[in-house]
Amino acid sequence: MAVKTILTEPNKLLRQVSKPVEKVTKNEQILMDDMLDTMYAANGIGLAAIQIGVPKRIIVMDLSKDPKKKEPRYFVNPVIKNKNLEKATYEEGCLSVPNQFAEIDRPKQCDVEYLDYNGKKQLLKADGLLATCIQHEMDHLEGILFIDYLSKLKRSMIAKKLSKLKSNTAIL
Ligand code: NI
Repeated sequence: MAVKTILTEPNKLLRQVSKPVEKVTKNEQILMDDMLDTMYAANGIGLAAIQIGVPKRIIVMDLSKDPKKKEPRYFVNPVIKNKNLEKATYEEGCLSVPNQFAEIDRPKQCDVEYLDYNGKKQLLKADGLLATCIQHEMDHLEGILFIDYLSKLKRSMIAKKLSKLKSNTAIL
Protein backbone atom coordinates (compact mmCIF):
# COMPACT_ATOMS: atom_id res chain seq x y z
CA MET A 1 0.00 0.00 0.00
CA ALA A 2 1.48 3.31 -1.02
CA VAL A 3 0.47 6.86 -1.82
CA LYS A 4 1.67 7.80 -5.32
CA THR A 5 2.10 11.17 -7.01
CA ILE A 6 -0.95 12.30 -8.98
CA LEU A 7 -0.09 13.73 -12.41
CA THR A 8 -1.61 17.10 -13.20
CA GLU A 9 -2.52 18.83 -16.43
CA PRO A 10 -0.63 19.66 -18.61
CA ASN A 11 1.03 16.26 -18.81
CA LYS A 12 1.28 14.11 -21.96
CA LEU A 13 0.59 10.90 -20.06
CA LEU A 14 -2.87 12.16 -19.10
CA ARG A 15 -3.67 12.37 -22.84
CA GLN A 16 -2.68 8.79 -23.56
CA VAL A 17 -5.22 5.99 -24.24
CA SER A 18 -4.87 3.29 -21.57
CA LYS A 19 -4.49 -0.39 -22.49
CA PRO A 20 -6.85 -3.22 -21.50
CA VAL A 21 -5.76 -5.52 -18.69
CA GLU A 22 -5.30 -9.11 -19.89
CA LYS A 23 -5.72 -10.69 -16.49
CA VAL A 24 -6.25 -9.36 -12.98
CA THR A 25 -3.16 -10.61 -11.12
CA LYS A 26 -1.49 -9.71 -7.84
CA ASN A 27 0.24 -6.83 -9.71
CA GLU A 28 -3.09 -5.25 -10.66
CA GLN A 29 -4.39 -5.74 -7.11
CA ILE A 30 -1.32 -3.96 -5.67
CA LEU A 31 -1.88 -1.18 -8.21
CA MET A 32 -5.56 -0.89 -7.16
CA ASP A 33 -4.56 -0.76 -3.46
CA ASP A 34 -2.04 2.01 -4.21
CA MET A 35 -4.60 3.90 -6.31
CA LEU A 36 -7.12 3.76 -3.48
CA ASP A 37 -4.55 4.98 -0.92
CA THR A 38 -3.57 7.79 -3.26
CA MET A 39 -7.21 8.76 -3.86
CA TYR A 40 -8.09 8.78 -0.14
CA ALA A 41 -4.96 10.80 0.69
CA ALA A 42 -6.03 13.42 -1.87
CA ASN A 43 -9.68 13.40 -0.71
CA GLY A 44 -10.89 12.28 -4.11
CA ILE A 45 -13.86 10.06 -4.94
CA GLY A 46 -12.42 8.49 -8.09
CA LEU A 47 -9.04 7.83 -9.70
CA ALA A 48 -7.88 6.25 -12.95
CA ALA A 49 -4.53 4.40 -13.14
CA ILE A 50 -3.15 6.85 -15.73
CA GLN A 51 -3.44 9.62 -13.12
CA ILE A 52 -0.54 7.96 -11.32
CA GLY A 53 1.21 7.30 -14.63
CA VAL A 54 0.07 3.71 -15.30
CA PRO A 55 -1.66 3.33 -18.70
CA LYS A 56 -3.96 0.44 -17.71
CA ARG A 57 -7.75 0.46 -17.94
CA ILE A 58 -8.31 0.48 -14.18
CA ILE A 59 -10.44 2.80 -12.04
CA VAL A 60 -11.05 3.00 -8.30
CA MET A 61 -13.87 4.93 -6.66
CA ASP A 62 -15.45 5.49 -3.26
CA LEU A 63 -18.59 7.61 -3.05
CA SER A 64 -19.24 6.88 0.64
CA LYS A 65 -20.01 10.10 2.50
CA ASP A 66 -18.88 8.74 5.85
CA PRO A 67 -15.05 8.65 6.02
CA LYS A 68 -15.27 5.89 8.64
CA LYS A 69 -17.32 3.66 6.37
CA LYS A 70 -15.22 2.97 3.33
CA GLU A 71 -16.94 1.59 0.24
CA PRO A 72 -14.17 1.03 -2.30
CA ARG A 73 -15.16 0.10 -5.85
CA TYR A 74 -12.77 -1.32 -8.43
CA PHE A 75 -13.34 -1.35 -12.18
CA VAL A 76 -11.01 -3.15 -14.57
CA ASN A 77 -11.62 -2.82 -18.35
CA PRO A 78 -14.96 -1.00 -17.87
CA VAL A 79 -17.24 -0.78 -20.90
CA ILE A 80 -20.47 1.22 -21.10
CA LYS A 81 -23.21 -1.06 -22.40
CA ASN A 82 -26.12 1.27 -22.32
CA LYS A 83 -26.67 4.92 -21.59
CA ASN A 84 -29.68 7.07 -20.97
CA LEU A 85 -30.46 9.91 -23.34
CA GLU A 86 -31.49 12.01 -20.38
CA LYS A 87 -28.66 14.18 -19.05
CA ALA A 88 -27.66 15.09 -15.51
CA THR A 89 -25.51 18.07 -14.56
CA TYR A 90 -22.90 17.95 -11.83
CA GLU A 91 -20.17 20.34 -10.85
CA GLU A 92 -17.06 18.31 -11.57
CA GLY A 93 -13.51 18.60 -10.41
CA CYS A 94 -10.52 16.34 -10.99
CA LEU A 95 -7.41 15.48 -8.98
CA SER A 96 -5.41 16.06 -12.18
CA VAL A 97 -6.91 19.53 -12.70
CA PRO A 98 -6.38 20.99 -9.22
CA ASN A 99 -8.77 23.59 -7.84
CA GLN A 100 -10.82 23.90 -11.04
CA PHE A 101 -14.53 23.09 -11.19
CA ALA A 102 -17.16 23.25 -13.89
CA GLU A 103 -20.70 22.07 -14.55
CA ILE A 104 -20.71 19.16 -17.00
CA ASP A 105 -23.69 17.35 -18.60
CA ARG A 106 -23.48 13.61 -18.95
CA PRO A 107 -25.96 10.76 -19.46
CA LYS A 108 -27.94 10.36 -16.24
CA GLN A 109 -27.77 6.59 -16.17
CA CYS A 110 -25.48 3.98 -17.66
CA ASP A 111 -24.80 0.27 -17.44
CA VAL A 112 -21.15 -0.65 -17.04
CA GLU A 113 -19.60 -4.05 -17.58
CA TYR A 114 -16.22 -4.60 -15.92
CA LEU A 115 -13.98 -6.98 -14.01
CA ASP A 116 -13.83 -6.57 -10.24
CA TYR A 117 -10.85 -6.76 -7.84
CA ASN A 118 -10.82 -10.54 -8.21
CA GLY A 119 -11.12 -10.51 -12.00
CA LYS A 120 -14.79 -11.51 -11.91
CA LYS A 121 -17.14 -10.08 -14.55
CA GLN A 122 -19.74 -7.68 -13.15
CA LEU A 123 -22.51 -5.43 -14.44
CA LEU A 124 -23.36 -2.20 -12.66
CA LYS A 125 -26.47 -0.13 -13.29
CA ALA A 126 -25.31 3.35 -12.33
CA ASP A 127 -27.23 6.57 -11.96
CA GLY A 128 -26.78 9.96 -10.30
CA LEU A 129 -23.32 10.78 -8.97
CA LEU A 130 -22.18 7.18 -9.49
CA ALA A 131 -22.98 7.40 -13.23
CA THR A 132 -21.26 10.77 -13.56
CA CYS A 133 -18.19 9.59 -11.66
CA ILE A 134 -17.74 6.39 -13.67
CA GLN A 135 -18.09 8.32 -16.93
CA HIS A 136 -15.57 10.95 -15.76
CA GLU A 137 -13.09 8.22 -14.80
CA MET A 138 -13.66 6.29 -18.04
CA ASP A 139 -12.83 9.47 -19.96
CA HIS A 140 -9.38 9.35 -18.31
CA LEU A 141 -8.85 5.94 -19.97
CA GLU A 142 -9.30 7.69 -23.33
CA GLY A 143 -7.04 10.61 -22.43
CA ILE A 144 -10.01 12.96 -21.98
CA LEU A 145 -10.33 15.48 -19.13
CA PHE A 146 -13.57 17.18 -18.05
CA ILE A 147 -12.19 20.56 -19.13
CA ASP A 148 -12.25 19.28 -22.73
CA TYR A 149 -16.05 19.72 -22.68
CA LEU A 150 -15.77 23.44 -21.92
CA SER A 151 -15.61 26.32 -24.38
CA LYS A 152 -12.21 27.26 -25.78
CA LEU A 153 -12.21 30.47 -23.77
CA LYS A 154 -12.96 28.77 -20.47
CA ARG A 155 -10.40 26.06 -21.20
CA SER A 156 -7.63 28.53 -21.95
CA MET A 157 -8.44 30.42 -18.75
CA ILE A 158 -8.05 27.19 -16.78
CA ALA A 159 -4.85 26.30 -18.67
CA LYS A 160 -3.38 29.68 -17.75
CA LYS A 161 -4.26 29.22 -14.08
CA LEU A 162 -2.76 25.72 -14.07
CA SER A 163 0.52 26.78 -15.65
CA LYS A 164 0.79 29.58 -13.11
CA LEU A 165 0.16 27.05 -10.37
CA LYS A 166 2.88 24.80 -11.78
CA SER A 167 5.51 27.51 -12.08
CA ASN A 168 4.88 28.47 -8.46
CA THR A 169 5.22 24.94 -7.22
CA ALA A 170 8.56 23.77 -5.92
CA ILE A 171 8.87 20.03 -6.44
CA LEU A 172 11.11 18.86 -3.63
NI1 NI B 1 -10.50 13.11 -13.00
